[in-house]
Amino acid sequence: MGARLLYLLLLGLLYEQPRGDRSFTIDDDQNCFKKDGVCFHYISGSIHYFRIPAIYWKDRLMKMYMTGLNAIQIYVPWNFHEPEPGMFNFEGDGALEHFLDLANETGLLVIVRPGPYICSEWDMGGLPAWLLNKKDIVLRSSDPDYLSAVNSWLSVLLPRLRPRLYNNGGNIISVQVENEYGSYHACDYSYMRHLFHTFRLYLGDDVVLFTTDGNTDRELKCGSLQGMHATVDFGPADDAKKAFDLLRRYQPTGPLVNSEYYTGWLDYWGGNHSTASPQMVSHGLQTILEMGANVNMYMFEGGTNFGYWNGADYKEQYKPITTSYDYDAPLTEAGDPTEKLFALRSVISQFLPVPEGPMPPPTPKYDYGVVKLQKVGDITDFLDILCPGGPIVTRYPITFEDAKQYFGFMLYRTRVPWEIPDMTSLSDPFNGVRDRAYITIDGSFTGVLERDHVRMINVTGSAGDWLDILVENMGRINFGSFVNDLKGLVSNLTLGVDILTDWLVYPLNIDGLIAENWPHMHRNHIIMAAQPESHTGPAVYTGTFKTAVTGDTFLKLFKWTKGQVWINGFNIGRYWPDRGPQVTLYVPGNILSNREMNNITVLELESAPEILLIFLIDRPIISKNDHGF
Ligand SMILES: *[C@@H]1O[C@H](CO)[C@@H](O)[C@H](O)[C@H]1NC(C)=O
Ligand SMILES: *[C@@H]1O[C@H](CO)[C@@H](O)[C@H](O)[C@H]1NC(C)=O
Ligand SMILES: *[C@@H]1O[C@H](CO)[C@@H](O)[C@H](O)[C@H]1NC(C)=O
Ligand SMILES: *[C@@H]1O[C@H](CO)[C@@H](O)[C@H](O)[C@H]1NC(C)=O
Ligand SMILES: *[C@@H]1O[C@H](CO)[C@@H](O)[C@H](O)[C@H]1NC(C)=O
Repeated sequence: MGARLLYLLLLGLLYEQPRGDRSFTIDDDQNCFKKDGVCFHYISGSIHYFRIPAIYWKDRLMKMYMTGLNAIQIYVPWNFHEPEPGMFNFEGDGALEHFLDLANETGLLVIVRPGPYICSEWDMGGLPAWLLNKKDIVLRSSDPDYLSAVNSWLSVLLPRLRPRLYNNGGNIISVQVENEYGSYHACDYSYMRHLFHTFRLYLGDDVVLFTTDGNTDRELKCGSLQGMHATVDFGPADDAKKAFDLLRRYQPTGPLVNSEYYTGWLDYWGGNHSTASPQMVSHGLQTILEMGANVNMYMFEGGTNFGYWNGADYKEQYKPITTSYDYDAPLTEAGDPTEKLFALRSVISQFLPVPEGPMPPPTPKYDYGVVKLQKVGDITDFLDILCPGGPIVTRYPITFEDAKQYFGFMLYRTRVPWEIPDMTSLSDPFNGVRDRAYITIDGSFTGVLERDHVRMINVTGSAGDWLDILVENMGRINFGSFVNDLKGLVSNLTLGVDILTDWLVYPLNIDGLIAENWPHMHRNHIIMAAQPESHTGPAVYTGTFKTAVTGDTFLKLFKWTKGQVWINGFNIGRYWPDRGPQVTLYVPGNILSNREMNNITVLELESAPEILLIFLIDRPIISKNDHGF
């Protein structure tokens, strides 16, 4: 054995294989990742476990594996796992470690992006809304209150990941720090350095840490940091060579990585459904792979923004994201393979061996037919049970955060202060309705104020009438400078020229009540609506249906306007067919029962149809335009 070979062997043992035969490192001479000492490229796909019921995780991972991927990329949403300070949830759909086990079992490596900020079109970019208890907190910066919450979260999360790092026998090959930090205005290097040291402290010196940024100078400059591998993101319409050339100015050596290669795009309420053709997306992938780069496809399966979890963008105006996060990804929202998946698979097969055997089939979808609902009552009929602690009495409006009600709905109630027989303006002069306000005077629905869109309505009324304003949080901004997105009435409303005062503010615990099977346990008393024939204004409707099988279905609220739906206590999300583009809601089969009655509760905020029907159909309609609506 020559001395040089011996030397190389020793070098290999000492540096490249720190734990037995397992190592994952960066080679700056060969410009590649090295897995167990051998050049390695990943072809990965993003999947958000928090947007998919846990029962389906294995099925989706298997489909990704069968496409030929050798890795997956995940975000970890802080707000999902720490809903209240110091209260952690790693169970059920939040069972991160179980998900990592399933990926390992399936033969997939994992790239983890634990934030703490993740964007992801998720409420507040994954940051917990309780951070806003300090109103002027500077998020994503060295603000000491922000850092202390971050430190506490990372001290819980990162030790859970450590034993699962590749070097330690697990399947996590690399970890991203922050997320597209260069797009944020703060450009605070000490914050990024603080995160870098914290990640090193908990994860050790061996793990590959990296950053991801948009492909502009400003973004790469503020987002990358010495000691972490810089990567970019870009889509099929961008020039891959140009993007990687720019990356090379900030990351001269090591593997080229596109951490978010866009397979589609997100949808906004009131916008069109986004699509990207299979030809274009697969061609772009081919270009990247021919350049010898590593790639993660964002998204491979998008899934669903159940409950209140959708985020929002702010581009000249507030733009909330739809409930469906289908993303036009290779696997649909419901986890079914598409033409795009097969096009990508055939590109991948030129570069990696694609596993033999059939792709798992789409899960069956069911048409359960029509369900007739009944009106239970107006939201104001239930204030005593929705807000058992009673209202907060306040001269001027307070925010959701002030009331420690971070999601959903609050009711702001005052009395009409004087006779208004003639049309008088009820206005939002400071644009402080966050985000939509449903207005009822003396029990009659009068109209809607909407952030950035509708700043005044005309009303009439009598002195002393109840003026009820139900305010909906439609999702916190997840990107850009306005992430401190307080909810509720964040400024005063005026009637005529006078400020309205003396409010009763009711934080509504509707999810808590529905979790106790309200109002179904009161079935005998269900026809208690004071105004059963009125279908306008915020009101609760319920119905039941029986099924022999429990499979996925899609809920179509034809001629309903806007609201929220729960099935068997599970909050399946917001509907707004009136605005689109999404028309149906995905209902995962696992929440249904084939033994008991299935219970549906609908909170319709504006106007329900005359005949209270909803439809459970066997296909999604997420593009209003495509279906002649
Ligand atoms: C990952 O899977 C491999 C085999 O596929 C197994 O040997 C190993 O124990 C698994 N690791 C973990 C952390 O589950
Ligand atoms: C949606 O697409 C239609 C038809 O292409 C177009 O006229 C309309 O402006 C688009 N709407 C938005 C919000 O982009
Ligand atoms: C409100 O009423 C005033 C006076 O009648 C009228 O000029 C105005 O157009 C109305 N505005 C709306 C939004 O209906
Ligand atoms: C409402 O107006 C009063 C009087 O101008 C002011 O003190 C208060 O801060 C305002 N409240 C909000 C929420 O803007
Ligand atoms: C629906 O509500 C009824 C009445 O309270 C209850 O008996 C049943 O268990 C509920 N169904 C499910 C699937 O939870």
